[in-house]
Amino acid sequence: MIPRVLSGIQPSGNLHIGNYLGALGNWVKMQHQFESIFCIVDLHAITVYQKPEELRTSIREMAGIFLAAGIDPKHSRIVVQSTVPAHSELAWLLTCVTPMGWLERMTQFKAKAAAQESVGDGLFQYPVLMAADILLYQANLVPVGEDQMQHVELARDIAQRFNSLYGETFVMPATKIAEVGARIMGLDDPTSKMSKSATGAGHRVGLLDPPEKIKKTIMKATTDSNSAVDFETMGPGVRNLLSIFQAFSGWTNEQMRQHFAGLRYGDLKKQVAEMTISHLEPMQTRYREITADPTYLDRILQEGADIVTPIANSTVELVKERMGIYTKAR
Ligand code: TRP
Repeated sequence: MIPRVLSGIQPSGNLHIGNYLGALGNWVKMQHQFESIFCIVDLHAITVYQKPEELRTSIREMAGIFLAAGIDPKHSRIVVQSTVPAHSELAWLLTCVTPMGWLERMTQFKAKAAAQESVGDGLFQYPVLMAADILLYQANLVPVGEDQMQHVELARDIAQRFNSLYGETFVMPATKIAEVGARIMGLDDPTSKMSKSATGAGHRVGLLDPPEKIKKTIMKATTDSNSAVDFETMGPGVRNLLSIFQAFSGWTNEQMRQHFAGLRYGDLKKQVAEMTISHLEPMQTRYREITADPTYLDRILQEGADIVTPIANSTVELVKERMGIYTKAR
């Protein structure tokens, strides 16, 4: 049986090269080895306030970028979470077997709650909804970054608890982290990971940024007090630029050293910019083609939902039966 992979990504705009090199690009490469479900988690997004018009746009933009980046809709499913009601339904059922203490320990909750004036219950329940996303499809693998590992662990704990209370029901999901070279840092501050929410103008390269803007952002990237590449003494900014180049080009460490040792920073940046643009331009062209007909996107998303809904519904049915709540006589 080929393993089922489930991954979720929040539909905030600003998808950037860090997302592509850290996650999306790997998904595209791996998709044919697995049965993949890519879930655009709009119900997670609203755990903190979103401007409705922006959220609506972000969901479509994200789906369009997935397709443009090479997710193959003939093989992989792109699903908007809210279009499959079983996500919400299972989340409630799992909420009832999740101790509050487990949720209080979540580091992301603590960090996000600290940044809010008023904390919605949804933010607290966020990891349970995520567990539902995963367990709904009996996913074998959940590729996530370091920051989401604790949530996948929690999904396992919830599955285990459910299984021991009500009998074997859920498959235990394993995590899979993206391969090396995938951790891209902020261009304005190479000590923190490139993020969708950072506000600095020179922080990230967006996947839909025009070439001129990409070039400008990379040329302004923070480096260090050297003026040319020295592999022994380079700081995090130069290392980050090299990581971006290497991740796009697929060059070996040896090739990187040969080519870049001693190169002046101005030239390094120019080459990183060219490499980045040469990868993003074809993706942007496909994005424009894909989104030119908005009904095409709707069809793909409908198809995704139609195919996964029976899997999701049968899990919910089983869970209800196990828990003893009302199901029809057979
Ligand atoms: N919480 C994840 C994030 O912010 C997104 C997510 C939601 C997810 N549901 C998921 C990731 C299920 C993997 C599997 O990145």
